[in-house]
Amino acid sequence: MTTTLVTGGAGFIGSRVVRRLVELGHHVVVADYLHPQVHPETSAPTRLPPEVRFQAIDLTHAPSVDSIVRSTLPDVVVHLAAETGTGQSLTEASRHAKVNVLGTTHLLDAFTNRGHVPDRMVLASSRAIYGEGAWIGEDGTVVYPRQRRPEDFAAGRWDPVVDGLVLRPLPHRASVTQPRPTNVYAVTKLAQEHLVTVWCDAHDVDTAVLRLQNVYGPGQTATNPYTGVLTLFAVRAARGQAIEVYEDGRILRDFVFVDDVVDEIVRAVDGTERGMLRDIGSGRPSTILETARIIAELAGSPEPVVTGAYRLGDVRAAHAAEGGTGRTPLREGLARLVASMGTARSS
Ligand SMILES: NC(=O)c1ccc[n+]([C@@H]2O[C@H](COP(=O)([O-])OP(=O)(O)OC[C@H]3O[C@@H](n4cnc5c(N)ncnc54)[C@H](O)[C@@H]3O)[C@@H](O)[C@H]2O)c1
Repeated sequence: MTTTLVTGGAGFIGSRVVRRLVELGHHVVVADYLHPQVHPETSAPTRLPPEVRFQAIDLTHAPSVDSIVRSTLPDVVVHLAAETGTGQSLTEASRHAKVNVLGTTHLLDAFTNRGHVPDRMVLASSRAIYGEGAWIGEDGTVVYPRQRRPEDFAAGRWDPVVDGLVLRPLPHRASVTQPRPTNVYAVTKLAQEHLVTVWCDAHDVDTAVLRLQNVYGPGQTATNPYTGVLTLFAVRAARGQAIEVYEDGRILRDFVFVDDVVDEIVRAVDGTERGMLRDIGSGRPSTILETARIIAELAGSPEPVVTGAYRLGDVRAAHAAEGGTGRTPLREGLARLVASMGTARSS
């Protein structure tokens, strides 16, 4: 039987990954300290199957990480635990670095300390590592716009401009697009990629690094104001309030349904493809406004309002070049999200 250690296994994505791995016959151990911003109401993770061994472990505490690795000797590690606030990371840099960077090195050191290496390590990285990503001008010039500054936002200059070129965003391609983080969270996710890859290469451990686009679906915490924009939209719509949309409503995102992401993570755990570095998205970009409108329609709430507000560190556009076949259509996924709030129209 494969023993799989899932860090962050009590979270939004992790709890679903864990359930699937249990169904597939893995012996699953979860290391998660139940971050109060994500789990405000629980002292024990209610959504994990009973077969799972749960350990309330904070990755920033090296002796605890040593102890779980020593007692588990996992064959596979799925590393999901992280501080995930993009905007928040610009004012709480150390917290993000401590958990995402130091927490990851504690995990790697724990294996060295025990003299055991896993067969594979799967890391949930993020599309955030690309920052604004690559944009292309009408003349075919490809540029990497710098991070938007407070004066750009204040002046309503939403789209990046480089050398006066009219630009459109190119999709992310892991093999081509250069990482250019625009917030501390993104820097720490890129650091995680490097840490896991160099350590695993040195110890002959197979790696799968999955750069997730914006994951949505039922089960994401509604109490964390820093992540999960569609969950926050759905909560607002469920209260009958108008969804407030930032900038001019034309921020572009690739919303990928959580079950589709879980499929990819489980496939990566299988290890059929070695040394994997991959973007995980739907491959279909949507504006924030059109997405908010679908949620409002499904929930029967008022028309969304474009506020012109903004958040430092946010990028204008992000989407993956490819989705997979069988990805959940946006409208279907949003209907499931809205229904999970108990507000879906019966029509
Ligand atoms: N949800 C998305 O849209 C998205 C997009 C890109 C990447 N990701 C990545 O996917 C992973 C999972 O994200 P999620 O959306 O399920 O987030 P989540 O916040 O629901 O889950 C993360 C889990 O990690 C745990 N955790 C946080 N700090 C910890 C620590 N110090 N020690 C132990 N556990 C800790 C939390 O308690 C939580 O259960 C993260 O690594 C995130 O960076 C998510």
